[in-house]
Amino acid sequence: MSEAQKQIILTGDRPTGRLHLGHYVGSLKRRVELQNSGKFDEINILIADDQALTDNADNPGKIRENIINVVLDYLSVGIDPEKTTICIQSALPALHALTFYYLNLVTTARLSRNPTVKAEIQMRGFADEGLPAGFFTYPVSQAADITAFDATVVPVGEDQLPMIEQTREIVEKFNKTYGETLVLPKAMIPENETQRRLPGVDGKAKMSKSLGNCIYLSDNAKTVKKQVNGKMFTDPQHLKIEDPGHTEGNVVFTYLDALCTDEHFSRYLPDYANLEEMKDHYRRGGLGDGTCKKFLIQVLEETLSPIREERAKWEKDIGAVYEIIQAGTARAVEKTNATLARVRQAMRINYFEDRSIIKEWEKMLKETGI
Ligand code: TRP
Repeated sequence: MSEAQKQIILTGDRPTGRLHLGHYVGSLKRRVELQNSGKFDEINILIADDQALTDNADNPGKIRENIINVVLDYLSVGIDPEKTTICIQSALPALHALTFYYLNLVTTARLSRNPTVKAEIQMRGFADEGLPAGFFTYPVSQAADITAFDATVVPVGEDQLPMIEQTREIVEKFNKTYGETLVLPKAMIPENETQRRLPGVDGKAKMSKSLGNCIYLSDNAKTVKKQVNGKMFTDPQHLKIEDPGHTEGNVVFTYLDALCTDEHFSRYLPDYANLEEMKDHYRRGGLGDGTCKKFLIQVLEETLSPIREERAKWEKDIGAVYEIIQAGTARAVEKTNATLARVRQAMRINYFEDRSIIKEWEKMLKETGI
């Protein structure tokens, strides 16, 4: 395990749509901080197009389209291809081979217990329509992703904890069966509760394309304003400005919890030093929803406008974006092939590495005296 002592990050996204504010506060912002912390020897981001196909087999065009979209989102939030390797899952053949070996180390009973997959099966209607075997087993392919990069740290959202758990079990089983070969990874989830799961603008559990409750990183200022003013409810009992209001379950405050800093107050709303003071005023009564929304829009704009500008720059040179993922993928091919070689060596199925199988046979034949 030559890489075991190194600190290596692997994380990934399914390229099924443009990334939104929920992705930003829940993972992208953190990735950029981790990237710039200097604490990691290697950072890899995998665009999990094969995983995306497990529930989009009839629509590979959607995934093809969103590969560049997702990379544009990465680059525009500050993922730096000099520091972070961005690569494409389907172009890494080692991952397919590893998945095939790991499938033998998990039971179908264990796979059926994965709570995230269970919920997704319900959501996608697979319970009635029939469950694609590829979808059912994608946690195993995710274990291949993670172990192929020798990842020690996997920054993910809370819903991915069962995948990391399952990966750890596969690693332990592999190492026990074939000898110490794979690195045991750890999950890293966001500390801030609201950042873990930013609701949609309509207050529904999660931002989702089909609910139309997203703020996309690529949305223009007008669209953002429209989403906030048109779809965000505040406190239904807060009818007059003087009425006391609730900040809990109030989407405007949930977003402020996730996004605003004390500096935002000094810049845009100097009546308060921080969010606590603003919340106190709202609870006492006397603070209007219009003021709160206006402030939120300013905070959102300060967050999103540099991202938007950066995206516009990259959009002028899609060729350069293509070259970034091509170069990242080439590096990742090397890395993941090396892991596969180690795995085949441990399993002693690397027949053509050397000719030792011939010698073994010759020795055996001699010993048995034939
Ligand atoms: N399952 C992850 C998601 O839906 C995406 C993903 C694929 C991933 N491979 C990964 C995340 C490896 C972390 C590590 O968001």
